[in-house]
Amino acid sequence: MHEFRYKNNQLYCESVKLEDIAKKIITPFYLYSYGTLLSHYRKLAKAFEPVQPLICYSMKANSNLAICRALVKAGSGMDIVSGGELYKAFLAGCPAEKIVYASVGKTEEEIRRAVAKGILFFNVESYQELVLINKVARDIGTIARVALRINPDVEPKTHAYITTGKLTNKFGIDFDTAYGILKNRLKFSHLNFKGLHIHIGSQIIQAKPYVLAIKKMASFIEKLKKDKIGIEYLNIGGGLGIIYNKEKPQTAVEFARKILPILKSTGLKIILEPGRFIVGNAGVLVTKVLYLKKTPLKNFVIVDAGMNDLIRPALYGAHHDILPIRYPLNAKRYKVDVVGPICESGDFFARGRIMPKVKEGDYLAIMSAGAYGFSMASNYNCRLKPSEVMAKGNKFYIVRKRDSYLDLVRKDIVPEFLK
Ligand code: LLP
Repeated sequence: MHEFRYKNNQLYCESVKLEDIAKKIITPFYLYSYGTLLSHYRKLAKAFEPVQPLICYSMKANSNLAICRALVKAGSGMDIVSGGELYKAFLAGCPAEKIVYASVGKTEEEIRRAVAKGILFFNVESYQELVLINKVARDIGTIARVALRINPDVEPKTHAYITTGKLTNKFGIDFDTAYGILKNRLKFSHLNFKGLHIHIGSQIIQAKPYVLAIKKMASFIEKLKKDKIGIEYLNIGGGLGIIYNKEKPQTAVEFARKILPILKSTGLKIILEPGRFIVGNAGVLVTKVLYLKKTPLKNFVIVDAGMNDLIRPALYGAHHDILPIRYPLNAKRYKVDVVGPICESGDFFARGRIMPKVKEGDYLAIMSAGAYGFSMASNYNCRLKPSEVMAKGNKFYIVRKRDSYLDLVRKDIVPEFLK
């Protein structure tokens, strides 16, 4: 469900014609729908209303300040994974008591900043990290709040690169080790053990692995209760899948229906960390067709966006629909590879895709690119990172300027001996 729709064969974002934006903004550019963003946030909040969850938007999906600000204004907290995300969360106006911080490799400096800011808690991924947070809190003269990230060892049935809750993954702490830590929690004089966390993977389209993982958590929580180890929060992470192609992911309501009874049975405060569910289908990457190139074996549509702008197809073999922003009525359909200008054969957006015939100069929208699109973009091949635009109603706003050539060299230093 999103607000990118054809009207009279023209693709619109909310009430703005994409062609009108493409005439004004240099392609490629990301375009986000403010309305879609908020409606996804609200859908989730409503589905989980019976447990009044704290929703901490996972900034890694898209940390554009306008997006974060829109969600903060709607009541969202932030799930962060670095000092940089902490910095941006505050710039977006997120209150410290709505920030949770995961990552297997938090540095001492990052921990120090987050402790000093008084975030809600760290999602701690190892014993060694607990020792460090305890030390930092002692240095500062405060108590730091922590939740243990549990690795529940379940198979989420998603791409191997984004599977995180199996014991072969680097994430979280197994149940036995976590139990030992909690039993001996008083050893950590400067830590307050507030909760438990899981995040089993991303783009998960069935409820089953979640149900399994959360059930395991519920029985662990029971065991802790029997031992009079009281905790306050259960953070069930993110990972909800969206429709890229023909997936039939559970809706927020179906998902909630399956897990709410287990969540309620724990009696704990609930946190969700969605990223993709909120922003994935709220964004597209708009690109221009540069050349149509026919080789003995293939039809290539060469566009001005590259894998540096959207790496998901290259990295995960991910499918993104590609729509002409002016639908070519009566155009013949043919099989194409849609590729970028970068010097790698992995630089493609679609392979063997059946599409209506487009012309050089036409604009295409690469759909469902709001999550892990710009946030994974790079300057590879010295390409300028694209601008980001947000549409709201019949207006649009530039929410990040396109890089300039100066941005490419701003930080480079040629030492004296080479001058
Ligand atoms: N919480 C934690 C601890 C996470 O590691 C992640 C994502 C999330 C929440 C949010 O997950 P989401 O709701 O967005 O699925 N680059 C990959 C996805 C990597 C996900 C990493 N962790 C992609 O483009 O598919």
